[in-house]
Amino acid sequence: MFNDRFLKACRREEVDYTPVWLMRQAGRYMPEYMEIRNKSDFLTMCKTPEIACEVTLQPVNRLGVDAAILFADILLPLDGMGINLAFAKNEGPVISNPVRTAKDVENIRVIDAEEATPYVMEAIKLLRKELEGRVPLIGFSGAPFTIASYIIEGGGSKEYKNCKTMMFRAPEVWHSLMEKISEVLLRYLKAQIKAGAQAVQMFDSWVGALAPVDYATYVLPYSKYVLDGLKDEGVPVIHFANNASSMLELVAEAGGDVIGLDWRINLDVAWKRIGYDRAVQGNLDPFTLFGTPKVIEEKVKRILAMAENRPGHIFNLGHGINKETPVENVIALVEAVHKYSRR
Ligand code: CP3
Repeated sequence: MFNDRFLKACRREEVDYTPVWLMRQAGRYMPEYMEIRNKSDFLTMCKTPEIACEVTLQPVNRLGVDAAILFADILLPLDGMGINLAFAKNEGPVISNPVRTAKDVENIRVIDAEEATPYVMEAIKLLRKELEGRVPLIGFSGAPFTIASYIIEGGGSKEYKNCKTMMFRAPEVWHSLMEKISEVLLRYLKAQIKAGAQAVQMFDSWVGALAPVDYATYVLPYSKYVLDGLKDEGVPVIHFANNASSMLELVAEAGGDVIGLDWRINLDVAWKRIGYDRAVQGNLDPFTLFGTPKVIEEKVKRILAMAENRPGHIFNLGHGINKETPVENVIALVEAVHKYSRR
């Protein structure tokens, strides 16, 4: 029973129902995740292929989604670059040596992903065995801007003050940093594909902080470098830029076989702007899952209606699932997508 609806939809082929998976589908809203999480810290989970594998499979088994996404993190490549990453309790990622100067950028190492993150490639190989073709396995990375934002700010940020200071005061430093980051990310994704990832997604979670003109100058060439570099790898590439509906055309220009959509734009409007020669993924507001099952069903139907059974729609949330989401609502969502999209 090989379910390849997700890969078919990425290639804009006909499917009997719309495939669905959820960004951050493995995580703290699941009691079976918490059971493991209570015994080990997050980075240890990522670095232990058996644990990463088990946690990746949890949502596949529990929710009936049409794709698995590797349990890992966009920040795992930082260690190999010489950037010290830790996850502080209730604070998210923290970097003790943020990059701010030309000298800091010079010190960044560009090393191969197999050397920097061998455990990621091992987890992928193990997962392909364990999945036995049940559903396809998605690999992923951050996009150059989102990774730069963590490296420069030293963690999460609201205003991206240090990033924008570098962009607007020392553009040559910014560009040399982005060159190094995009090379690391391209190698990281290529290594994941080589290990067995059947599709990859590049997450640009925080790029919505930029003006479209600045995206075009300071970011697009680097996202494009990564996406162009994956063209001959033979797997579909998803490009998700969060909070970027004001610059969807630029996001599409950077590349990707599938363009990810948040919920701040109607799917029909977005798809028309992107062009029907690309597939789209999205676009349910993650907090819809805090509503009643009836409302969830209605919102699913609305999104499916906007996709008009056009080949090339993958159902997903518009951003990652919240950690307090009721699991039964997530199950109801997956069932509703399968039920109401049946051709
Ligand atoms: O989708 C999946 O199930 C795969 C796993 C996955 C994780 N992180 C696991 C994780 C994926 C795809 C990511 C990507 C990621 N990581 C992004 C891009 C996606 C997005 O939401 O925009 C970003 C920005 C990060 C960086 C990151 N990692 C942050 C900001 C945090 C802390 C925030 C939080 O939710 O607490 C993490 C930690 C993290 N990554 C957790 C998980 C399950 C929580 C760790 C825990 O159990 O405490």
